[in-house]
Amino acid sequence: MPKKNSIDAIYQPILPYLTRVQRNIRREIRVENKTVSKIVDYLFQTKGKLLRPALAIFAGKAVAGLEDESTDEALVQLATAIELIHNASLVHDDILDDAGLRREIPTLNKIYNNHVALLAGDVLFTEAFYLMTHHLRQEIIEPITKITSGMCQGELINELYPGDNLDFSTYLTVITLKTAGLMSGATQAGAKVFGAPQVVVDALGEYGRNVGLAYQIVDDYVDDETGSIEGFSLDYAFKAAESARESLKVLSPSIYKDKLLDIVDLFIEMAVQKDMSATVKLP
Ligand code: FPP
Ligand code: MG
Repeated sequence: MPKKNSIDAIYQPILPYLTRVQRNIRREIRVENKTVSKIVDYLFQTKGKLLRPALAIFAGKAVAGLEDESTDEALVQLATAIELIHNASLVHDDILDDAGLRREIPTLNKIYNNHVALLAGDVLFTEAFYLMTHHLRQEIIEPITKITSGMCQGELINELYPGDNLDFSTYLTVITLKTAGLMSGATQAGAKVFGAPQVVVDALGEYGRNVGLAYQIVDDYVDDETGSIEGFSLDYAFKAAESARESLKVLSPSIYKDKLLDIVDLFIEMAVQKDMSATVKLP
């Protein structure tokens, strides 16, 4: 039994969808060359948190006006593309960070080299766009394209501040682009797949953006990566979490809406737990 409010407990109602997404990743990336195929298999031997696809699925199911097999299939394709873009960005992020491990296995940049990792990341994100052009409407693909460009811009801005010595406002710009954008794109697109009215799409987009901000701020705080950020404020994560909860008021009650609220609580709990463990630490 997963712990209450653990990520596994939250995902329970959408597990069949997440399983389909994982299967779909390997089905959609059809690379003929065996060497390249082995690299793709290597990257997907461990699954990540699947947070972005889960956000797309929860958002879609929470509005679920037009529920049928074809919308469900489009939702799985969307969630797959979003997970591929996210994985591509991590492969590139590991080059930038010169990281040796990702999801507890050695990174491509360490096993091979930066050139191989760069190109493998390119394969993943171009495959994601190929998949989207095949399965999704243009009104869904277009914003995701801009968001992906934004992710690159966010990392580019970050690179201009050696040692991550940036001020809080620049930090917010960076994390809005590199993290909150894709989460907001996931929730908006999930809602669009199910034909949600614009006001609901916008509200879910705001939810995704604020969840992304809260998540990244808490993650950086828990990983002790915020010391060099001038004017850093953990409170901003709490405010973003509150705005995320507020945005969900447009939705009718459902198990999916409850889980979107649980995701917000989970990230905030992570920050609180870190603070609690800090207070009991012996000198
Ligand atoms: C992880 O953040 C990294 C991101 C959220 C985005 C990285 C984006 C790029 C490298 C731009 C290239 C994008 C594409 C689509 C090819 P983190 O460093 O805070 O997380 P970590 O601790 O897991 O590394
Ligand atoms: Mg990193």
